[in-house]
Amino acid sequence: MSAAAAPLQARVVEVIRETADAHTLVLEPAGGREDSFSYKPGQFLTIRIPSDRPGGAARCYSLCSSPLQDEKLKVTIKRTRDGYGSNWICDNVVEGHVLDVLRPAGTFTPHSLEADFLLFAGGSGVTPVMSILKSALAAGTGSVTMVYANRDESSVIFREELIALGRAYPGRLNVIHWLETVQGIPDQAAIGALAAPYRDREVFICGPGPFMDCVERSLQALGMPPERIHIERFVSLAADPFAPVETVVPEAGPGSSVVEVDLDGEQRTVNWPQGAKLLDVLLGSGLEAPYSCREGACSACTCLVLEGEVRMERNEVLDAADIRDGFILACQAVPVSDKVRITYEA
Ligand code: FES
Repeated sequence: MSAAAAPLQARVVEVIRETADAHTLVLEPAGGREDSFSYKPGQFLTIRIPSDRPGGAARCYSLCSSPLQDEKLKVTIKRTRDGYGSNWICDNVVEGHVLDVLRPAGTFTPHSLEADFLLFAGGSGVTPVMSILKSALAAGTGSVTMVYANRDESSVIFREELIALGRAYPGRLNVIHWLETVQGIPDQAAIGALAAPYRDREVFICGPGPFMDCVERSLQALGMPPERIHIERFVSLAADPFAPVETVVPEAGPGSSVVEVDLDGEQRTVNWPQGAKLLDVLLGSGLEAPYSCREGACSACTCLVLEGEVRMERNEVLDAADIRDGFILACQAVPVSDKVRITYEA
């Protein structure tokens, strides 16, 4: 069965110029379905970018707002050289524009905000980190240290907001700026020295690939356990997530399983035919399960197995600790046991 993905619509109510090449879009739901815009700190939005290219274009941008502090959703987009999506947004999107988006998703989010955090952000990688930082300050009682690397002072996104947060939460927020034009490219020894006093914390890292690799190596050298190191790695979407998708009619058949699912505060039980992907079955049942790439590469469809067994056909994004904890990618999961219980509420 083929069905059109049902995108959400978000109206741009303000465009904030953060730096010369970074714009923040302030968004509010348009056309109803407000509940589908709920999100966790550190998650991302998939935005449709108009394109004549075969397969269309869509890009994932992290939310920099906090669901616990900001009334409206915000994404910050920085132009990249030859970046089709970022340049289209920075050149074309103005107040009043209505964007097609998919519901917020992603696993770069703390299990609990009641913790001490060590955050690493490089350039525009600050966006999900900012969401986590604001949320931890608002909802937790722990300390937050952020190491924030930028090319130079003029490229520091959210500088004023960080200063204001430091004043609002005295003694809880410590921002360590690293400017390449002053201190050079940060290396493993320098990152290790900055991180050492905070080695017992939960760590979240987002930025350019070489920066994230360097931070990860530094933390590993300090002996930090991998389950406390969280890294946001975006992949380019190969297919158009807004295109009509194949879904599966959840009819009982020989050898089919049953899946009980918690999603958006509701519980549903659905037949899960042998060999069918969980996401296709849920969409075919009329459930608004989250997704983006449908290729096992973005984590938007992640859910938790509470009971039963499934097999994933492809996984480019969940690490060993995620899998050990029971997380799966619905777009790649086929049933193994007769009965499976999953939740999206973890
Ligand atoms: S939708 Fe991207 S991993 Fe499943």
